[in-house]
Amino acid sequence: MAGRNDLAELLDEQAAYYRAAAAEYDEHGLPFSGGDELSEALDAFRPTGSVLELACGPGTWTGRLLRHATDVTAVDASAEMLGIASARVGRQRVRFVQADVFGWRPDRRYDVVFFGFWLSHVPSERFASFWSLVADCLKPDGRVFFVDDGYRTVEELIEGEDSPVIQRRLNDGTSYRIVKVPYQPEDLEQRLERLGWHIKVHPTSGPFYWGAGNRARPPQP
Ligand SMILES: C[S@@+](CC[C@H](N)C(=O)[O-])C[C@H]1O[C@@H](n2cnc3c(N)ncnc32)[C@H](O)[C@@H]1O
Repeated sequence: MAGRNDLAELLDEQAAYYRAAAAEYDEHGLPFSGGDELSEALDAFRPTGSVLELACGPGTWTGRLLRHATDVTAVDASAEMLGIASARVGRQRVRFVQADVFGWRPDRRYDVVFFGFWLSHVPSERFASFWSLVADCLKPDGRVFFVDDGYRTVEELIEGEDSPVIQRRLNDGTSYRIVKVPYQPEDLEQRLERLGWHIKVHPTSGPFYWGAGNRARPPQP
């Protein structure tokens, strides 16, 4: 995609976009069906025990996780997003952590790691290290659940369809470059398998998909 500095710059711009977009985030939801299927799948998965939520945003999923979880640690780079999330779900049984997922290290292990609409924003160059972080966050029998979509509009494709870099605009027209990788569920499943994960990725009736599973092999001590 780009050199090391370019990638760091792009990831900074992506984080800046979400900081600036926090107040209007809910206005930018995708106008498609299939979202309910994700919530139903998450309830059926039952994220019990101690749950880590990466890139929690304004708490879109935190409340639903708390229906099952004993406690949730919710990480996001944006103080603005975390402010909205804590106003929504409160701080009982939730620990909010402001951190850059690409540099953050866990201080304990979790029963479940969850991320909603985050994986598609992880650039290819950071895919393996991101999943290595997920492994380091999980107890030996820990489980993973994620939801996402591969939807990109024609206007967003400023570098063409083959590029993972797209442009997003705020309501006031300000533009930002972010990463949006349009995974196909089957390809994603195979890519995860090559990294040692046993994760089934399910498409929905809309552009969304969800994945659930665990490490195929126990991590080496
Ligand atoms: C598409 S939103 C998803 C929010 C929420 N999980 C949801 O499903 O609605 C992506 C989130 O990632 C956060 N984010 C962006 N870059 C990040 C980074 N480097 N580390 C941690 N969070 C980051 C943004 O602040 C934003 O809240």
